[in-house]
Amino acid sequence: MKRALLNRLAHGVLLAACALTLAACGREESSTSGAAFTPTPEQVARGRYLVKAADCAACHTAKDGAPFAGGAALASPYGTFYGSNITPDKDHGIGKWSADDFYAALHDGNARGKRLYPSMPYTSYRQLSRADADAMYAWLMTVKPVAADAPANELKFPYSMRFGMALWDVLFLKDTLPDASAGQSADWQRGRYLANALGHCAECHTPRDVFGRLVDAKPLSGAALGRVVAPDITPAGLAGRGWNGADLQTFFSVGIAPQGSAFGEMYPVVHLSTQYLSKDDVRALSVYLLGDMAPAPQPVKAVAADTAQLAAGRSVYVAVCAGCHGLAGEGKPHVAVPMNGNSTVRQADPHNLLVAMLDGIDTQHFAGLESMQAMPAFASTLSDDELSQLANYLRATWGGQNANVAAADVKVLREPSH
Ligand code: HEC
Ligand code: HEC
Ligand code: HEC
Repeated sequence: MKRALLNRLAHGVLLAACALTLAACGREESSTSGAAFTPTPEQVARGRYLVKAADCAACHTAKDGAPFAGGAALASPYGTFYGSNITPDKDHGIGKWSADDFYAALHDGNARGKRLYPSMPYTSYRQLSRADADAMYAWLMTVKPVAADAPANELKFPYSMRFGMALWDVLFLKDTLPDASAGQSADWQRGRYLANALGHCAECHTPRDVFGRLVDAKPLSGAALGRVVAPDITPAGLAGRGWNGADLQTFFSVGIAPQGSAFGEMYPVVHLSTQYLSKDDVRALSVYLLGDMAPAPQPVKAVAADTAQLAAGRSVYVAVCAGCHGLAGEGKPHVAVPMNGNSTVRQADPHNLLVAMLDGIDTQHFAGLESMQAMPAFASTLSDDELSQLANYLRATWGGQNANVAAADVKVLREPSH
């Protein structure tokens, strides 16, 4: 049903897009390149900060690759995208681009006449001020040029038809999503810009419809991404899992808070971006997420559960988890985060909890030289029954969630496509 709809849409999109883009064809190099642009040192320094705040490196710097030379692979249901080379190399990067060209790519997804896919989050960056885009451009022009192309996208038909994007843009490119929180303060306003224009938090934390469009009615309410789900970060969602402003600030500056650590796709967000934000900006971001009138963080609720099942989960926990996470789930400094009140354990959907246990978490480095042990993967050492008992024990004891995880829920997640 969904697929049929998607095929129909794709067909329509292609036909209409052909008509729409014909006019644009052959205008590839028409933008105003070479316009005079003489940046000030302040602009360059500010650009460096803004490129971090916008996390351009997450997609434009490959693991162990040269900075901004592209090649970071981004898996999606449409196929694999690769971030482009955005170093100032004249042939392989953006060395021939003017500040106007650069702004058009960030604001409209128009890369000197080529329509970009929204895997490049221009849907968010279009809210950037022109001054901020110019500062980013000024700094990127000082990066070491790299004379190599990023790999080509590997997309499934019909998504491989780039010109379809013109129509997508006409239909879906909007200036703003509604706010999930309410506020007016200067911090809230600044946080709104940091979250929406720079940090593009909504690109991962807001659900998408079948057209790949962010769902207006549900800003920041959580979305399935890759293996790890992006949770609900609305004021109610965050407070419901025990977050307050001070702990959110710790999470964004360090990556570890009493409620847990950043992992999955959130780890690079903290590691490459939010840890470099100034204290004022981190505070503003937290104020925007919770709103000017932050809801009170909720304590973990007591829940009724089957004691025999909990006893089984408890014995697995004591045998394999307590050495790191503590007998009372209190965690150990520099070893492992607490399980008692952990925001992953407190999620109503057990997805991330089960994925963390099945896959483990590779050693991550946090701000201030903090690092912990790697979280081992238990997929090959614990059975579906043991993992579901363990999940139920954690949820009912330290998460305030029902002990309703079945062995079948674990089994499904053993397949990497989930
Ligand atoms: C979530 C991943 C992601 C982030 C974050 C991101 N980009 Fe991109 N960007 C891409 C992808 C993927 C492409 C190629 C898209 C395509 O093939 O249509 C791209 C393309 C571009 C292009 C066009 C290059 C060309 O030669 O066509 C520019 C310029 C660019 N990005 C600049 C930036 C800047 C500046 C930032 C930070 C403000 C940024 N990007 C952040 C994924 C990202
Ligand atoms: C060798 C120590 C170690 C053992 C054993 C261990 N963990 Fe972990 N666990 C960690 C560390 C360290 C992290 C945080 C990793 C990071 O984010 O870099 C973590 C993270 C987690 C998380 C994600 C929550 C968060 O905030 O990061 C969950 C859930 C979890 N562990 C559950 C378990 C369970 C259940 C067991 C037993 C089956 C277990 N762990 C065994 C060290 C361990
Ligand atoms: C590339 C995708 C991605 C982007 C961009 C992103 N997040 Fe996340 N975020 C995730 C994922 C996945 C998780 C779940 C793993 C975890 O808890 O660390 C997460 C977790 C979080 C958490 C912890 C929630 C909890 O209860 O444990 C907070 C808070 C958060 N994100 C805020 C933000 C903010 C603010 C931004 C923008 C500055 C942002 N995220 C951008 C993917 C993303």
